[in-house]
Amino acid sequence: MRQTFENTKAQEQKGQAPVNTPEDIINLFELEQAARTKMGNQTAWDYYASGAMDEITLRENRQSYERIFLRPRMLVDVSQRDLSTKVLGQKVDMPILIAPTAFQKLAHADGELGTIKAANRCGTIMCLSTLATSSIEEVGAQADNNLWFQLYVYKDREITKDLVARAKAAGAKALVVTVDSPLLGRRERDIRNRFTLPKGLTVANLSKAGLENLPDDGSGNMPGNTKESGLAAYIASLYDESLTWKDLNWIAQLSDLPLLVKGILRADDAKRAIKCGAEGIIVSNHGGRQLDTAIPTISALAMIKDAVPKDFELFVDGGIRRGSDILKALALGARAVLIGRPVLWGLAVAGSEGVDLALNLLRKELDLSMALSGVSSLKEIKRDLLVDRKDLI
Ligand code: FNR
Ligand code: LAC
Repeated sequence: MRQTFENTKAQEQKGQAPVNTPEDIINLFELEQAARTKMGNQTAWDYYASGAMDEITLRENRQSYERIFLRPRMLVDVSQRDLSTKVLGQKVDMPILIAPTAFQKLAHADGELGTIKAANRCGTIMCLSTLATSSIEEVGAQADNNLWFQLYVYKDREITKDLVARAKAAGAKALVVTVDSPLLGRRERDIRNRFTLPKGLTVANLSKAGLENLPDDGSGNMPGNTKESGLAAYIASLYDESLTWKDLNWIAQLSDLPLLVKGILRADDAKRAIKCGAEGIIVSNHGGRQLDTAIPTISALAMIKDAVPKDFELFVDGGIRRGSDILKALALGARAVLIGRPVLWGLAVAGSEGVDLALNLLRKELDLSMALSGVSSLKEIKRDLLVDRKDLI
């Protein structure tokens, strides 16, 4: 039977009474459970929850963290703890940023505007997806110098150029180019559901180009009579599958925004991205949604860290559900982490304030994990906090 929940903890809770009020929620697994109950719409829920094919990478992103053990240090004064850091020169209150996720209004009418407001309150950065259900201008108007824009490269280069110019004009502080999606991964739940957007929701950034709608012919049969996800069909017809490193150079010179490359999983690719002018890399397998059985991101981070200059800014996302996961990611060299689905769960449960809830649960857990490990600031989090696999009995 296909698993609907993405992890063992949540599966355990499956039999229990659903937790419904935000006040009762004490961890992200309960938030996930409450979001599932609240969303009701199975197609939307499946779109958020699913990974590609057998969902092995989706599962392993999470389980890899569960297999890493900590070596806490005792009798350290941890009475004053500081979770703040700098990303691309900008101060954030915690090393937890918001990953770009498409179609946030599927969760709640607050959508992306709710997310940026939560990011403002929590002192962190939100990365807005090209495929947002609110435009970069609308979200930019609410941002507090804390908005990044995630770019998908359309075959039509004029559209791509225009998106970058609009992001810059709307006040985005960085451009995040996602490179793991020349085509959409095969998400079997979305195929089965013939995923498309419900009436009233659109790809708002693409209205100007007349490309704001996902295909849906009403019969569930997508163009060419193939049965598939409307999003997969949209991407196959519009995204540039021929994208290469030389195009990254072209994107870099479209604006003076710092460039981050998202979706890198190998050290040699990381070095190439740096050569193309990337100021940061987001180590990501797209939350297990693209190539199934791709390496879990925490393992990829460890490999990439050794290959890049010491102060180069590495970020990681995928499966981060506990404060201790963040501690581990930072110990392996990440400047900060990004979270995807938990933000959507927060939105589903309580709109904008639910996003605060997701961020604050993680913040508190990270703070406690630090205190119990004997570190009071992020710069004290080092590789030696982790147990080497070879030392495990
Ligand atoms: C995503 N992700 C994503 N990435 C991206 O670059 N552009 C996008 O539009 C989207 N859209 C999207 C939608 C949904 C529903 C999900 C779950 C994910 C990937 C996202 O940025 C991030 O890499 C993962 O979500 C991180 O994994 P977790 O935290 O969801 O496990
Ligand atoms: C996704 C795309 C939109 O993961 O990035 O659904």
